[in-house]
Amino acid sequence: MSISQRTLTSCLLSVTGAVCFVQAAPASRPPSTRGGCSRVVFNLPVTAENYVFVRPPDPNSEPSIQAFIVDFFTTGPDKFIIGTHTVNETFAVNAVYCKPTRKTKHRNTLQILIHGITYNSTMWSGYGFGDQYNWHAHANRAGYHTLAIDRLGHGLNSRSYDPTSIIQTPLHIETHHQLVTALRTSKSNPLSRTFSKIILVGHSYGSVLITAQARRYPSDADVLILTGFSNFVSGGTVVLEFEPAAIHDASRFPSVPYGYLVFQNKDDRDGFYHPGHHDPAIAAHDFAWEDIVTTGEFASSSGDAMWGAAKGYRGKVLVVTGVYDREFCVPSVEECEGILKGTVEGLFPDRERGGYVAVRDAAHDLTLHYSAEETFERVIGIVGGW
Ligand SMILES: *[C@@H]1O[C@H](CO)[C@@H](O)[C@H](O)[C@H]1NC(C)=O
Ligand SMILES: *[C@@H]1O[C@H](CO)[C@@H](O)[C@H](O)[C@H]1NC(C)=O
Repeated sequence: MSISQRTLTSCLLSVTGAVCFVQAAPASRPPSTRGGCSRVVFNLPVTAENYVFVRPPDPNSEPSIQAFIVDFFTTGPDKFIIGTHTVNETFAVNAVYCKPTRKTKHRNTLQILIHGITYNSTMWSGYGFGDQYNWHAHANRAGYHTLAIDRLGHGLNSRSYDPTSIIQTPLHIETHHQLVTALRTSKSNPLSRTFSKIILVGHSYGSVLITAQARRYPSDADVLILTGFSNFVSGGTVVLEFEPAAIHDASRFPSVPYGYLVFQNKDDRDGFYHPGHHDPAIAAHDFAWEDIVTTGEFASSSGDAMWGAAKGYRGKVLVVTGVYDREFCVPSVEECEGILKGTVEGLFPDRERGGYVAVRDAAHDLTLHYSAEETFERVIGIVGGW
C-alpha cells in the first residue's frame, strides 16, 4: 500500500527530489468565482512524444502500481525509459478565468496559473478561506487577467486517460504550449480574445513544467513566476506514501484507474506547511480534498523534457520560495536566497531580467500561509515594475 522508505530515499538520491514530493492539490469546495470569475474549457489538439517504460504496471493491480514506482526509482531513468510514443489527440482543459477589477497598463496581459502534483486550479483561490489566500483577487486588483488551469488528469478534467502512458510530463508541456498559442494567436478560444503578453505562474511541479516549456518554446512567455521551486537537490530523506485515489476515497474517485495516486497520510502533506504560520483548518482541507498525481508523472519526471537550463529564454523570471520549503530551500534567509539566486542564474542564463524572493515564514505551500498576502503584494510589486 505504500512506498518504502528505501524507495523514496533512492528517489531523492537518484532523481532530483523535486517530483518525489512535489505538492498536493486540494479538491472539494468550488473555486471562488466571485466577481469576474467563470469556468471555461479549452479543447486543445496536442501532439507529444511521451515516454515508453521498460516494465509498465498492471493497471488493475495496486501492488503492481506500487512496484512500478519502486522499480522506477531503483532502476533509474536511464534503464527505465526505453523509448517514446506519439500521443496525438484533442484534450479538454478546464480552467477558472478571472477578469481584472481595475483598468491598468496590464490589461492585455494574462497570467496562466499552473498547479503542482496532487493539487488543481482551486489552490490559487485559497479554497474559499478568504481573499488573503487568493492569487486571482490580488492580480485582478492590479489589473491582470488570470487563468488557473486544471492540468490534464486533475481537477475537472477527465481521469479516464491511461495514467502511465498518457498523463506524463511531455504531454503537459505540449498542452501548455498549445494553450499559450491559442491565447496569443486566435480569438476563437473560450475567452474570445487574444493577449499580447503572457505570464506563466507555477507552483512546484507546475514551475518545473514551465521551466521545461521555456526551454522548448522560449517565446511562449514574457515573464515566468516560479513559486515553491528551485534547482536545489535536498540531500535529506523524506518518506512520503502514496496510494490509489480510488482506494483512498472511493466516493470522490469512483472507478478512477489505480495509477492515479494520492497522499496516504495527512502528516506527509502537513510537511508543506510551516508550523505556527498557517491556519490548521486550511491544512486539514488541503488533505481532505487533495487531488492526484499519476504513475506517468512520477516515471517521466527525470526524462529529457524535465530538467536542464532554459537556454534561449530571453524573458524575465522571478523565483519565489518559502525559506522553510524542505524540498526546495534551506532554512536561513541567507541560505535560501543563495539557492534562489543560483536557480535564476543557473536555469535562465539568457534571461532579460531575473529576481527572487525567499519568503520568511512559509514552507512549500506559500500561498496558503498567513504571509500569503504579503507575498502576493511583493510579487505583484516586482513584476508590475518590469
Ligand atoms: C480540486 O481541488 C479542490 C480543493 O480542495 C477540491 O475541493 C475539488 O474536489 C478538486 N476537484 C476535483 C474535481 O477533484
Ligand atoms: C494528429 O492527428 C491529426 C488529426 O487526426 C492529423 O491531422 C495529424 O496529422 C496528426 N499528427 C501527427 C503528428 O500524427
